[in-house]
Amino acid sequence: MNQNLKVAILGTGNLGMAIAEGLLKSKTVAPPDLFVTRRKVELLDSFRRKKVNVLTDNKKAAAQANIVFLTVKPHQAENVLEEIKPALKAGQQVIISAVTGFSMEKIIAITGKNIPVVRIMPNTAVAIGESITCMSVAPGFDAEGEKVEKLLSSLGRTLRIREELMEASTVLGACGVAFALRFLRALTQGGIEIGFSAETAQYIAAQTMRGAAGLILENGQHPEKEIDKVTTPMGVTISGLNEMEHNGFSSSLIKGLVTSYTKISSMKAKN
Ligand SMILES: NC(=O)c1ccc[n+]([C@@H]2O[C@H](COP(=O)([O-])OP(=O)(O)OC[C@H]3O[C@@H](n4cnc5c(N)ncnc54)[C@H](OP(=O)(O)O)[C@@H]3O)[C@@H](O)[C@H]2O)c1
Repeated sequence: MNQNLKVAILGTGNLGMAIAEGLLKSKTVAPPDLFVTRRKVELLDSFRRKKVNVLTDNKKAAAQANIVFLTVKPHQAENVLEEIKPALKAGQQVIISAVTGFSMEKIIAITGKNIPVVRIMPNTAVAIGESITCMSVAPGFDAEGEKVEKLLSSLGRTLRIREELMEASTVLGACGVAFALRFLRALTQGGIEIGFSAETAQYIAAQTMRGAAGLILENGQHPEKEIDKVTTPMGVTISGLNEMEHNGFSSSLIKGLVTSYTKISSMKAKN
């Protein structure tokens, strides 16, 4: 645990809570060095019980931290940044924003050029240290970027990307959790129909997904190579797989992803 690390999470909703849980679970930050905010603080009682500082005052939280996560909704970001601006000290703090569609340029326009800004796109698996967190660092802040990357690596894997790809990373990595879980749910429903209890079907399906992803991440294989190993000629797997494809399996996933991307791009254009 880094004794000097003090972290504020401004807007502790779904993502903010997942980040807080991940930081605590990995012992990256001690509970008394973590400051979490939202307006309905009663919803953060579980953190209070763990001796985390729970506040409504964003400025107070930011003033005590050297790492300030911003995890509010896009329409709330400007107000929160204006609120904390007087508490920001150049050379002592870094802002890490996970706010979708809110550019580093916009943040710097509010906070000034001397406060380092890093934009990130994690997913809710930060809570268990299994996120893929894509990140972009504002020009001129490479050293701070490296420190942030080290911190984020306690929440899963990190990947540096160009800021223009942030919306694409939102769809693939963050929305991707929902896409993957709906796939898991469908596998489970199929498993129930062929004889397993819901609980057992879900367990088999989830571990199968984890194992399949592990084969790709650990061996660096192309998915089709692994699929070829499972599909015996005239066998059971290929019959099911082809039936899924006849019904638009890959096509429907790609179309869904592109629909989400079209939507996020139109939202960005309106901002
Ligand atoms: N969920 C994900 O998987 C994910 C992944 C990557 C990025 N993101 C991005 O992260 C951001 C948050 O998403 P989310 O899903 O976590 O949304 P969320 O659950 O609505 O969280 C936002 C939180 O901000 C709090 N808030 C609003 N105004 C505030 C203020 N003035 N001061 C302090 N807290 C305030 C809200 O709580 P109160 O109403 O109690 O104040 C709410 O809990 C969004 O920009 C989203 O696009 C989300």
